[in-house]
Amino acid sequence: MHRFLPCLLLAAGSVAAQAVDVTVTAAPGTATVEPGVTVNAWLYDGLLPGTPLRVTQGQTLRVRFRNQLPEATMIHWHGQPVPLGMDGVPDISRPSVAPGQEFLYELTHLEPGTYWFHPHGHEAQLDVGLASALIVDPANPTDDPPFDVEHTVLLDDWNDPLGGGWTGHLLNGRSSNGQVPIDVQAGQRLRLRLINVAAVTNYVVALDGHPMTVTHADGGRVQPVAVQAVPLGIGERYDVIVDCNNPGVWSLAAASITNRNATLVRGIVRYVGQAQPPPAPGLVPANLATGSLLGYAQLASYFPVRPITPAPDRTLPAALGMQMGPGGALNTINGEAWPNVTPMQVALGDDVQMTFTNTLMGNGQYHPMHVHGHFFRLLGTAGGTLAPPRKDTILIRPLGQAGSTATVQMHMDNPGRWLLHCHHMMHMMNGMMAVVEYLGDSDGDGLPDRSDYEPDRALPVVVVQDDAARFVIGAAGVISAQWTPGQIVALYFGAPLPAPFAWPPFGDVWLDPLQHAPFGLGLVAPNGSADFAYVLPNDPQQIGQRIGLQALGTTPLPAGLLTSTFQAFVVH
Ligand code: C2O
Ligand code: CU
Repeated sequence: MHRFLPCLLLAAGSVAAQAVDVTVTAAPGTATVEPGVTVNAWLYDGLLPGTPLRVTQGQTLRVRFRNQLPEATMIHWHGQPVPLGMDGVPDISRPSVAPGQEFLYELTHLEPGTYWFHPHGHEAQLDVGLASALIVDPANPTDDPPFDVEHTVLLDDWNDPLGGGWTGHLLNGRSSNGQVPIDVQAGQRLRLRLINVAAVTNYVVALDGHPMTVTHADGGRVQPVAVQAVPLGIGERYDVIVDCNNPGVWSLAAASITNRNATLVRGIVRYVGQAQPPPAPGLVPANLATGSLLGYAQLASYFPVRPITPAPDRTLPAALGMQMGPGGALNTINGEAWPNVTPMQVALGDDVQMTFTNTLMGNGQYHPMHVHGHFFRLLGTAGGTLAPPRKDTILIRPLGQAGSTATVQMHMDNPGRWLLHCHHMMHMMNGMMAVVEYLGDSDGDGLPDRSDYEPDRALPVVVVQDDAARFVIGAAGVISAQWTPGQIVALYFGAPLPAPFAWPPFGDVWLDPLQHAPFGLGLVAPNGSADFAYVLPNDPQQIGQRIGLQALGTTPLPAGLLTSTFQAFVVH
């Protein structure tokens, strides 16, 4: 019998340092938002919001993601500059994960701070409950400011997408009537990680009776700024520290940025020993209505960052507007609506300067603009050119208000093809997405960065179709390996190992060396794809089998052979 890698058994079994393995399952479910009120939702791990993922900087987070939803989906790690192949955007990073199927995300070099994850591309999935926090603790704990207790606060709007009859706003998956108090003791420093995971609501957040000190913006530590309220655009995060020096039972309240005089949802901060009832849900704390509001101009990075360059390599406009399309109004960037957009082209190593300009007035024109794979460094802030704050989402306000324009720089150090979009779900669905495309082929594997699923690593990529019907017993499908045109790829099926073996210099081996057999050999076509057609045996005993897939590609590089990425599918 033909063995995959005869030398494997000689290889040292060193695995990627400190991998943390978790499983995340997306499935339909229900969530109780307050006593007696249950909503229909789609959930990660059955929870609204999902189980938070937490690792320490330097650890690899390996997420076996299982899709039990009735439609295809993926996970996007909002704000983390992951390689393109892990970014979770259908067809840009990979095909989606079909219902009943799975994908293994391997996240290395995670940035410390408060991040979150959600689906992408299937825009309606942004509004069904699929959201959770991703928290990365700094490797060196003193990189964090001192605090005594911490809580993560996810704010969401519930628009009753799946029917059930309840709409409103949620703090950690519960309405104002369903809150579990955050208990503190006088003298403690309370760290709150505020995350806006809403579909269409930009919030203002304040804690009654307390100012807060902003310590992190979109995960990155900033010089402390004392404020009474923070604006929280969709997708944005702020970490704040509250000195608990005013005993009582207080409202942690959120309003819409368009009306600070109405509390949409509130949590409760309760000092131990305080027995009074929680503040009324409708109470509007003075901080919320009229307190000093954080502005981007106050932010400065705490840690060294790449300075703002006076001579950017490229200057790109991003004019935010609207225009009539065949099916109604479209939200546009530079007059174009997705998918009919001209890619913004950049080169590896560029410093790109981009100016967002809102061309329209009115409450419907708040645009939380988000870039994938990169950070924005903001110009015109307290950080000046040497310590600009680093963000991944910036809220552009309507024309006529301060903040209707913003200029940022991005360092292009993550090759690929990346979305730049408004995080407001309706604006996104109506076209407000652009794409930033790298010129060239940074890993030199013969596939241009704009179409390479792993543009920063020269290795074959196993690609599984996103059509659920292909994984049913008796069905036919195609597995592809994306690799250098003209090279040869061998595809292997087998029982996957729980963790990969390192096999230097060829890569990681994921298949049980005693159980796999070569499925076929293919010549990589000029389009960079070798396709392997398969038919699943019509055998009910196969149902539920998890089949690992890995390829081995030839290369003109010194290694001669390279293992591919790993994938698995489940027979139905
Ligand atoms: Cu929260 Cu395109 O992302
Ligand atoms: Cu928008």
